Amino acid sequence: MIVLGIESSAHTFGVGIVTESEENFILADERIQYIPERGGIHPRESSRFLAEKAPMIIEKAFEKASLRLDNINAIAVALGPGLGPCLRVGATVARALASFLKKPLVPVNHAVAHVEIGLRMTNLRDPVIVYLSGGNTAVIAYVEKRYRVFGETLDIALGNLLDTFARETSLGPPYVVNGMHVVDRCAEGGRKFIEDFPYVVKGQDVAFSGLLTTALRAYRRGEDIHNICLTLREIAYNSVLEVAARCLMHTRKKEVMLVGGVAASPILREKFAKMVEEYSATLGVVPPQYAVDNGVMIAWTGLLAYKSGVTIDLKSAFVRQRWRIDEVEIPWR
Ligand code: FE2
Repeated sequence: MIVLGIESSAHTFGVGIVTESEENFILADERIQYIPERGGIHPRESSRFLAEKAPMIIEKAFEKASLRLDNINAIAVALGPGLGPCLRVGATVARALASFLKKPLVPVNHAVAHVEIGLRMTNLRDPVIVYLSGGNTAVIAYVEKRYRVFGETLDIALGNLLDTFARETSLGPPYVVNGMHVVDRCAEGGRKFIEDFPYVVKGQDVAFSGLLTTALRAYRRGEDIHNICLTLREIAYNSVLEVAARCLMHTRKKEVMLVGGVAASPILREKFAKMVEEYSATLGVVPPQYAVDNGVMIAWTGLLAYKSGVTIDLKSAFVRQRWRIDEVEIPWR
């Protein structure tokens, strides 16, 4: 079985083609990323970029896989969550392909796809999943046919916190240099913690917008930027760590998986490595190339879903900007 997957939920247009084969299951992995000249991602501008690049990326993927269009068994597409205009680019392309090739269309939840490609890459079986990216911060665990959320951010995502702080203080973009976030790097020069920064964990949820405001205020009143970065990242990372540790204890799982763009942080990884040791658990980290948005994760999840009989009618294949991970039935586990 061969499945093509399309990702376009924010800044990346990705096309992946995968098979069931144990090794070399990736036949193609093509992607292109929209990088705004300044500021954050503007959905409409990003979607225009994605739409412009889509045909080229699809063509490249078929070339790379040495396949003809009709060799594909199904088309999978990320229908949410994400930015509406961006999601619609992928959905339109996928519907057109499915209709033209007369192949089934498989709806994929972007967050589920991050988890599934993570499991495929780390060989973990049933971990507590810590999903950290520019748009998401959640601690998730599989319980009774669903990936359930055991804690999440009440306002902005961890990646958004780091990127926004970097942008406002001219540390970035680029936000990640040589595999390390610029805030992480700047924090290395920090010597002391600043007292009044808020550490917010409410029940199992975290919140970062107060922390961002406080950090920016400290920057404007002339506090040392290294000390600000150190305080900011320690508070942010430790609050996620606390929630994840409680989930591990509560679910009695024996594995933790870090996934999403922020999972690449070596500092965060070190903190988690120490934590899992205390609980005699194992840590798995998704390789950076597959921790960020890509088409392979959509294709792989699409393949799992399609094998379990999940397809969607072209007429009902609309995007869902706020499609939560815990709304998705997982029949393949
Ligand atoms: Fe993502």
